[in-house]
Amino acid sequence: MKILVTGGTGYIGSHTVLELLLAGHEVTVIDNLCNSSPESLRRVQNITGRNDVTFHELDIRDRDGLDKLFADHDFDAVIHFAGLKAVGESVAKPLEYYENNVGGTVTLCQAMQQAEVKTLVFSSSATVYGEPRSVPIREDFPTGGTTNPYGTSKLMIEQILEDFHRADDAWNIARLRYFNPVGAHESGRIGEDPNDIPNNLMPYITQVAVGKLRELSIFGNDYPTKDGTGVRDFIHVVDLAKGHLAALDRLARKPGLVTYNLGTGTGYSVLDMVQAFERVNGVKIPHKFTARREGDIAECYADPTLAKQEMGWQAEKTLDDMVRDAWTWQSQNPDGYK
Ligand code: NAD
Ligand code: WQD
Repeated sequence: MKILVTGGTGYIGSHTVLELLLAGHEVTVIDNLCNSSPESLRRVQNITGRNDVTFHELDIRDRDGLDKLFADHDFDAVIHFAGLKAVGESVAKPLEYYENNVGGTVTLCQAMQQAEVKTLVFSSSATVYGEPRSVPIREDFPTGGTTNPYGTSKLMIEQILEDFHRADDAWNIARLRYFNPVGAHESGRIGEDPNDIPNNLMPYITQVAVGKLRELSIFGNDYPTKDGTGVRDFIHVVDLAKGHLAALDRLARKPGLVTYNLGTGTGYSVLDMVQAFERVNGVKIPHKFTARREGDIAECYADPTLAKQEMGWQAEKTLDDMVRDAWTWQSQNPDGYK
């Protein structure tokens, strides 16, 4: 297939481009590079031996640029990663988040509509469940109760896509709700490269390990969990990337609007992650317990049964793979792509 990947130089996008290339697809990437470097794509091409990825520095809010791109190519599908994702920043800059994430997605869909490209795979998030009534979380659990504009932007986009599909059911749309992506390609050549001090747990751990940060603060040890620290469904980014290929396949076999959790189904605590990282990599992670972080929930993990039943996809990599590959990337690239 000929596939357009928005946000394809970013963390999850670059890993997905790699899997698309390995599977023989033709890939065009657009990205405005606000949170990534085109170096990731150079490395993806190097790893796969496929040097035919086309890259355009383009913003998904640029309707004219998109129209020209769609006119010049004959895309079969779009995988849409482009967006801003920092929860704390979204609280400080809500309009930027709504304009970029919601406005950008609407503009992208308008350009797709004009070009009659009607297959879209969208990066949603487990954040749309808010505080779940129980775990594991199934796709039919209520959404809502998001606590920050980032999460609300994902919820709004999900709704827009649903309305859009209702208006024209020739559209094929997959809304993929990611849990907590971590790790890197096993080569250690591509990985997560945050611009500032990381907000997320795993890049924080790896930056402590490499000596860029002094110690990890564990936000709360009084949650009603097995060891008092927060529990999440950490999923290897390569498993997650493969979920997008499974979604394209599913839409080709059975068109429509589908929504899937992409998680492993297993919850690990923050302390589990720290201990696994230390054990597998032989590196100490100095840490201290601090107050809970505002907006955090105690436990969040998926029921991934539907994705397995309907797409034949399930996560295969282990916790040890996640912490090993995260460390291979960080230790070989202490300054990321810089
Ligand atoms: P990332 O920041 O590495 O990738 C997003 C990419 O989009 C970046 O390369 C950025 O430069 C680009 N971008 C942002 N706004 C753009 C715009 N207006 N036009 C063109 N490009 C733009 O983030 P990621 O972790 O790879 O996340 C990819 C997607 O998955 C995002 O939509 C994110 O919200 C979603 N998601 C991520 C996580 C996670 O924990 N990483 C979890 C759930 C959902
Ligand atoms: C995981 C656990 C923290 C950092 C966020 C977004 C979510 C999704 C994924 C995009 C929690 C603890 C963390 C640290 C810590 N993104 N922690 N010290 O909050 O589950 O999800 O990223 O869609 O929308 O909200 O991920 O990695 O930030 O935190 O103790 O320095 O690690 O309290 O329990 P989270 P996270």
